[in-house]
Amino acid sequence: MKTKILADEKKSIAQAAQILNTGGTVAFPTETVYGLGADARNPQALKQIFQAKRRPNSNPLIIHVADLEAARRIADFNKLATRAADCFWPGPMTLLLPKCPSSELSSLVAANQPLIGIRIPSHPVARRLLVEFAHPVAAPSANLTNRVSPTRASHVLDDLDGRIDALIDGGECHCGLESTILWPQDNSLTLLRLGALEKETIFATLGLMPKWSTAPNHPKTPGQQSLHYSPESPLRINAGKANHGEVWIGFGSNSLNASFNLSEQGSLNEAAANLYATLRMADKTAQQSGCLGIAIAPIPNNGMGVAINDRLRRAAARSEG
Ligand code: TXA
Ligand code: MG
Repeated sequence: MKTKILADEKKSIAQAAQILNTGGTVAFPTETVYGLGADARNPQALKQIFQAKRRPNSNPLIIHVADLEAARRIADFNKLATRAADCFWPGPMTLLLPKCPSSELSSLVAANQPLIGIRIPSHPVARRLLVEFAHPVAAPSANLTNRVSPTRASHVLDDLDGRIDALIDGGECHCGLESTILWPQDNSLTLLRLGALEKETIFATLGLMPKWSTAPNHPKTPGQQSLHYSPESPLRINAGKANHGEVWIGFGSNSLNASFNLSEQGSLNEAAANLYATLRMADKTAQQSGCLGIAIAPIPNNGMGVAINDRLRRAAARSEG
């Protein structure tokens, strides 16, 4: 299969929608990371997503729609879900909600989970594609399973060139971390994945602090269980300097000898936007120069730093085995 690369222009959106219509796969930019989209009603198309990513089909897919009306046609919104949607959509939030019995979604999207994940992205290319296609699009991050999520078109090609039908090149994803996943019930909000929508913002807006899911009867996000978000090289976190043979990723103005810096100004938002691209570059450097691994400077654990540290801990845990 040859992967068609489409520019961010009107005729490409029509072409991409046509590919989705005929059961193909299209990678497209969102404000968080690039997604690999397929028609959420078409089981054959969804199978291609699992195949291209080498993803087990027990791992459910987030559904992307253009607006709240389309979201309401496929999921049941309680009061809290409606408030969260009004406040944070379009944007980097995924809600886990019961599926409407009348929805046309293929059962493959939920992969036997009790709820479906749904989100309205804010990226203009994603929005134009969703409006043009006019049906729900299932889209996991457009990387091979267990690799770092793609935040540039080139990352998608590194992993999936020749495995998907098309890619819309929409430049860099400005958040750079995946969406925050929430499970809204009548009076409680459960957090299932830290992400680009900060907990503090949720609290300040809704007056309700999302609580980590700990109860065994809570929905699981299977992709969180496995060791996600990892470079190939071993990763050492909270590293004040590089040890011999390590590629060092710095943060802020003190990281003088660093090979890369997530944000010289010490901005956590900039660090989030650069994180995956930098991990990919550091990984390439380490592999090409025979380095022992990657070391990364401490990242302050507030604001976007909380989600950055979550991803770094997972990547480092894989390195420990
Ligand atoms: O920002 C994002 O969320 C990006 C963009 C493309 O929208 N998508 C993304 O999808 O990160 P993915 O598949 O790479 O990660 C989604 C996570 C996985 O851990 C998956 O297990 C979980 O969400 N998930 C999706 N649907 C679910 C469901 N119905 N129930 C429980 N977990 C679900
Ligand atoms: Mg992913």
